[in-house]
Amino acid sequence: MNTLVIGSQWGDEGKGKVIDFLTETADFVVRSQGGSNAGHTVIANGKKYVLHLVPSGILWPGKVNVIGNGVVINPTSLVEEMTYLRNLGVTITPENLIISDRAHVVLPIHKEIDAAQEEALGEHKIGTTKQGIGPTYADKARRIGIRMIDLADPERLRTVLEARIETANDELARLGWPKADPQVTLDAVMAAADVLRPHITNTIPAINRAIKAGKTVLFEGAQGAMLDIDFGTYPFVTSSNTSAGGCCTGSGVPPTSIDKIIGVCKAYTTRVGAGPMVTEDAEIADYLHGLGREFGATTGRPRRCGWADGVVLRYSSMFNGFDEMAMTNLDGLDECETIKICTGYRCGDEILEFPPALMEDWAKCEPVYESIPGWKQDISKCTTWEELPEACKAYVKRFGEVIGCPVGTVGVGPDREQTIAVPH
Ligand code: GDP
Ligand code: IMO
Ligand code: MG
Repeated sequence: MNTLVIGSQWGDEGKGKVIDFLTETADFVVRSQGGSNAGHTVIANGKKYVLHLVPSGILWPGKVNVIGNGVVINPTSLVEEMTYLRNLGVTITPENLIISDRAHVVLPIHKEIDAAQEEALGEHKIGTTKQGIGPTYADKARRIGIRMIDLADPERLRTVLEARIETANDELARLGWPKADPQVTLDAVMAAADVLRPHITNTIPAINRAIKAGKTVLFEGAQGAMLDIDFGTYPFVTSSNTSAGGCCTGSGVPPTSIDKIIGVCKAYTTRVGAGPMVTEDAEIADYLHGLGREFGATTGRPRRCGWADGVVLRYSSMFNGFDEMAMTNLDGLDECETIKICTGYRCGDEILEFPPALMEDWAKCEPVYESIPGWKQDISKCTTWEELPEACKAYVKRFGEVIGCPVGTVGVGPDREQTIAVPH
């Protein structure tokens, strides 16, 4: 049984926790897209880990973790992350972490271009993570990218790097930014390449052979459906397909190999970076931030907060084909008197069931809310569905109805064990 786990909102839904929970019964954990823009928190063995490029399965012994061809890899960041994990007692070997030779490389120039483009956009900036993600995927699409296979041969690497940095320097100069020194980049990439080389391989046969042999593969999505470059709030999106299709193109497995798709959602909505968020609400933001919740896993920035958005979730359930939802952070609503869920968008005289394409139309949308009574008690110690308060169960059930997809599990705390199965 191969399962794909996808963020269904704007990222940070709790994918790391869900993956960690499912890894116990998996053999392989595969990342297919994104890069170090991701920050997946896992709390396990009494420790907190934040993973960016390394699949969350690395925390379980005996699992093979794959960084697939669709991921964009900053070699220096990856080496730093491996060191950080080893310092926390995690074992990483060329057997339990394999990296696709086809994955594209994020260079310092990509981070520079990312930052320069954001600055040039001024108040219209996307609010990217400045990890060089967009410029690296742009290079891939322009067919001028550097891939992990290029790290294998130092001479080839020098040639391709020097050529790319020369053209990047023209671009940086146009943006009024200082030029990059090819030697400094080469030294940094070569040092990281020495560490990564034993892990680099053709991961596509490795995953497909495992599937053929009846192993269980877990695909770990990064970001969320509304940050998808095709389906999200364009241009306020990331530069990869974060939705179900991205898993196949980013790991080299056919769609027929995926048996189950789980959408991860918070019991409410959060977003970092700019762009539309119809259910954004100052009251719930103050309430969540006041509880010390919803500060970014990487930057500590406060996340934007709002009520659950049924329009976004209905849409993302549709184009991802979710079999069920893993709802996280239900305990975040413990103290609310009343909980709201958005069932549609009012846009002029129309009620929209699905999101619009144009930013101007997004700006005109007002949420249509349904109010549900809160449960006003601590649910973090509950371990079964039966123990949850009736009002809490009613919210979860109504949530599933509004979005047209059943909730399979609810999270009542950040620990591995704080996950409750919802009876069908
Ligand atoms: P990801 O990027 O989707 O993996 O999510 P992040 O790690 O960026 O953000 C999710 C946050 O919610 C992290 O701080 C998790 O520890 C936390 N979390 C996940 N599930 C739950 C839950 O059910 N309850 C609580 N209280 N926290 C949770
Ligand atoms: P995880 O995997 C939340 C957002 C950025 C910005 C937009 C584009 O932890 O859920 P990028 O650097 O990708 O070009 O930024 O996407 N973004 C995320 N938001 N969680 C993430 O990852 C994100 N990765 C990118 O904030 O709005
Ligand atoms: Mg995150």
